[in-house]
Amino acid sequence: MASEYDDLSDLWYQYTFSSIDEVILHELRPSSDISGKPIALDVGCGTGIQSLRLASLGYRVLGVDIADRLLVRARRKLAEADYADADFMIADAQSLPLDDNVAHCVNCCGPTLSFIPDWRDTLTEVSRCLKPGGKLLLEVEGKWNLDLFWEIANALGFNFLGYDESLLTALSHLLPPWRLGHTIDYSFKSSSDTSVSMPLRLFTAVELEEELQSRGLAEEKRWGLHATTNLIPSTILHKANPSRPLTIIFRALARLEKKVNGRWPLNALGCSLLVLARKKQHCPDSTEDGN
Ligand SMILES: C[S@@+](CC[C@H](N)C(=O)[O-])C[C@H]1O[C@@H](n2cnc3c(N)ncnc32)[C@H](O)[C@@H]1O
Repeated sequence: MASEYDDLSDLWYQYTFSSIDEVILHELRPSSDISGKPIALDVGCGTGIQSLRLASLGYRVLGVDIADRLLVRARRKLAEADYADADFMIADAQSLPLDDNVAHCVNCCGPTLSFIPDWRDTLTEVSRCLKPGGKLLLEVEGKWNLDLFWEIANALGFNFLGYDESLLTALSHLLPPWRLGHTIDYSFKSSSDTSVSMPLRLFTAVELEEELQSRGLAEEKRWGLHATTNLIPSTILHKANPSRPLTIIFRALARLEKKVNGRWPLNALGCSLLVLARKKQHCPDSTEDGN
C-alpha cells in the first residue's frame, strides 16, 4: 500500500485522519515541565502521518512499523520537514525493541491495533514503553456501528451497496457475546485493483477499557468516529472524488458528530473508537522515573 497510502481522496479517511489530528493537537501537547526533548512513540507509524504532527508539537519521534516501504516514506516525510532527530525502525509491535518507560506519549492509530494478531501483547508492550503519567492515543475498529445494518440491507438487496457479504455473515456480526469484540475477514481492493484480504479485530468500548485498565492505563476520554456519518453507508463514503451533494450531507453529519461523539452512547459506537488513556503513576512492572 506504500505508494497509495497518503492518497486520501475519499470522505471517510479524510474525516478519520483529521479527527485524529485534532485530538493529537488538543490532547498530546507535551507538558512544559519536561526536561530535555520529550519522546513520542508512534506504533504502526506507517508513512508517518501522525509522526509528523507529533514532531511539530516538539516531540522527538520514534516510529515503529513492520513495513519497510512505509518507513521509507515516513523517514522522507519527516526529513523534508526538517525533523532530523526522528528515528524510524522496523520492528514488531508485539515485541518492541525499546526500554521500559521510554516515551512521554504513545500514538497507535490508523487503526494499527486492529491489524495485529496478538493485540493483547501489543497493548502490554505499549504500556511498558510509556512513562508513568504519559498519555496513549489509541484508535481501533469499533464493533457497534451502523454498517451492521447496512450490511444486512445490502445482502437483502442483491449487493446494491457493494459490501460483498452474504446475509448469514451479515447476521453473524450481531451474535453474542455482545460485550466482546470479534475478528472479521476484511477485504478491499488496492488502487491497482488487486483484491486484498486480512483479519481485522473489531473492539467494543467496554472490553477496550478493561484491557487498558488491566495494563495500568486509565481511560480519560473516548470518541466514536463515524458514529453518525455512517448514516451514509461506508462503501459510498469510501469512493474517491465524491459528488458535491454527498460532500455537503457528509459535512453536516460530521459537524453534528463532533458535537456529541465524545459523550455516551456515541462514544461507544462508530466504526472507529478513539481512546485517550493515561498510564497510572503506580503501575505494576514499571519503574517510576517521572519525566
Ligand atoms: C492502517 S496503518 C496505520 C498507519 C499510521 N498510523 C496511519 O494512521 O496512517 C497500520 C500500520 O500498522 C502496521 N503494522 C501492522 N502490524 C504491525 C506489527 N505487528 N508491528 C508493527 N506495525 C504493524 C502496518 O504496517 C501499517 O503501517
